Amino acid sequence: MKQKGINSFANQRIWVIGASSGIGEACTKAFIKAGAKVALSSRRTERLSTLAQFGGPEKTLVLPLDVTQQEQLNCAYQDIQEAWGGLDLLLFVSGVYTPLRADNFNFDIAQKTIDANLLGPMRAVGLVLPDMLKSHTGHIAIVGSVAGYSGLPKALAYGPSKAGVINFCETLYYDLLPQGVSVHMISPGFVATEATAQNDFEMPALITADEAAKEILAGIQSGEFDIHFPKRFSGFLKFLRILPYPLYFWIVRRFVKI
Ligand SMILES: NC(=O)c1ccc[n+]([C@@H]2O[C@H](COP(=O)([O-])OP(=O)(O)OC[C@H]3O[C@@H](n4cnc5c(N)ncnc54)[C@H](OP(=O)(O)O)[C@@H]3O)[C@@H](O)[C@H]2O)c1
Repeated sequence: MKQKGINSFANQRIWVIGASSGIGEACTKAFIKAGAKVALSSRRTERLSTLAQFGGPEKTLVLPLDVTQQEQLNCAYQDIQEAWGGLDLLLFVSGVYTPLRADNFNFDIAQKTIDANLLGPMRAVGLVLPDMLKSHTGHIAIVGSVAGYSGLPKALAYGPSKAGVINFCETLYYDLLPQGVSVHMISPGFVATEATAQNDFEMPALITADEAAKEILAGIQSGEFDIHFPKRFSGFLKFLRILPYPLYFWIVRRFVKI
């Protein structure tokens, strides 16, 4: 059994959470270009409003919110229901990254990271699930990261948050496939955005946000569950995670100089 894709994004009702910059912004532009109706969410209202001008009021809704606040998500979803009468695709892109190692571990940062990156998608998915289950249609796409595959340096909070996203998507897929609701787990490698601009090391196989958006739209369109890119990097990390731990850690120490 294969899950459904989306033949054409024209007039699809899409909610992008984390639309104000980077990968989310690039996906939003691509969806608008493809003729979709897009609801744009994140905290920075001005950036969302500027981006919405690409589609105009007929095709876009600006719904500012913080993913750590359930009430704000509830209100936004209600606005979408009132404006469009339903939702075809939830794309949860929003995420935060603070480099953390054992010598600067900070519980407060870890809690905020898990709250935004793991509990955020859970809050949003919890909202849209009842309607999608009732209609046996719809798509849930969540951006995780290859950093969730297995432990990597400087990711003492980010890594666990993304590992949680991967497990959440896998478990959702298991439950939703027989129900006709598609799940798309998105695991990018390095993408040049505001988030990675802070990195002080050379990022292997770095791609642009537009390239990432192209991969994401193509993966959703063809109904893929496991959307990962660029393959030359994500495929290598997939291989590393099946190695025995001594070999895995040896390779990471040898090649990851951060
Ligand atoms: N860039 C990479 O190399 C890379 C690699 C793997 C995975 N990822 C993942 O890709 C996603 C997008 O990252 P990006 O690189 O495009 O970074 P980015 O440009 O910093 O974008 C992050 C987005 O998340 C939103 N956001 C953050 N905290 C939020 C909150 N509490 N409530 C609502 N929105 C919030 C931001 O909007 P506001 O500030 O307006 O709220 C922004 O739209 C993240 O989940 C990231 O972990 C990125």
